[in-house]
Parts: sequence; C-alpha cells; structure tokens
Amino acid sequence: MTMLDKDINDLKVLISEKDIQNKLPELALKIENAFNSNEDIYVICVLKGSVMFCADLVKHFKNNVQMEFIRISSYGNETKSSNNLQAIDLTLPNLDDKNVLIVEDIIDTGLTARFLTDLFKIKHHPKKLIFAALLNKKCARQVEIEPDLYGFIIDDKFVVGYGLDYKGYFRNLPYIAYFPE
Ligand code: IMP
Repeated sequence: MTMLDKDINDLKVLISEKDIQNKLPELALKIENAFNSNEDIYVICVLKGSVMFCADLVKHFKNNVQMEFIRISSYGNETKSSNNLQAIDLTLPNLDDKNVLIVEDIIDTGLTARFLTDLFKIKHHPKKLIFAALLNKKCARQVEIEPDLYGFIIDDKFVVGYGLDYKGYFRNLPYIAYFPE
C-alpha cells in the first residue's frame, strides 16, 4: 500500500532527461573554470535531493574529486520552506584551503543556500567556495542569494524527479516534472 496521494500519471515533464544530461558537461566545465585550478575538488552533496544531480555531475570533472555528503533538515513532508535549518550527519574532513563545491538540487527561497554558504565560510575556511544548483527558482527568493552556477531557471512551481521528492516519492524519475493545478 502506497502512502502517496498523487498519481504519477498526472505528472507533466518540465525538463527532460535528455536536456538534463546535455546540460551536465557544460556545467561541469563552467565549475572547473570557476575554480581555475587543477587541485582536487571537494564536492559536498547535499542529501537527499542532490543525489542524482551530484552523482551525474561529478562524472564530467577532469580534476580529481573527493565526495562528501551532508544532510540538512528543512522541508519534511511539506511543500513549504523552513526558516529552521539544521545541518545533520555533518562529518566532513578538514576543508581549510581547499576548493569546495556545494551541490544543491534547487534554490527556492534561498534559506538553505544562505545557511550552507555561511556555515562553510565560518566553520571551514575553503580556498574557494562555489555553490552550484541544478534548478534556480529565482522568483521564489526570500533572501538575497544566487548560486554561482546553475542548470535551469524554473517558475515558482513545486517540482519532483531527478532527486527531488514529494513526500519522499519520485526521486527516482530521470526527469524533472510537476503536477499541473
Ligand atoms: P530553500 O531553502 O527554500 O531554497 O529550499 C531548498 C530545499 O527545499 C531544496 O534543497 C529542496 O530539497 C527543497 N525544495 C525546494 N523547492 C522544491 C521543489 O519544488 N520540489 C522539491 N523540493 C523542493
């Protein structure tokens, strides 16, 4: 028995698998150019939403990569953002003077991006910190912050797929989709 109150057949594709996969080499190259260094890149995958994006993105890097994982408690089962953010499962190596890339699925209100950027600047002292997001919901911003690099700008609608979930479901879809009103 599923706990789901939405039907997968009602989903409309917003960004196809092909469009996502075509975007990744271009984005990886821009990220490496932004670091402007052949030193290792410490990739911070923000679970759970970034898991697909991060796993596919790192395949395109030419630099050596270390992958780390953190989890932020924010959304729960709701479709609204939270002001009350907390980093959990945060066991990171020493990132002092390293090239650090934070990989997020989506920037919505910007609260998580602000929280993470401040956390990494204050607690760790990276040589360079780059924040990359697959999706940028630019019009939903509540705090003034922009990702350094992103894949696609989208309208203010709730999306699922390619790591993004509704009540924990739909992360496995290879495309980004939404439920029309
Ligand atoms: P923000 O703090 O409002 O920018 O939201 C960041 C987090 O909220 C993302 O990392 C996602 O996990 C989640 N989120 C924001 N918008 C959506 C959406 O449209 N679908 C699924 N999750 C979302």
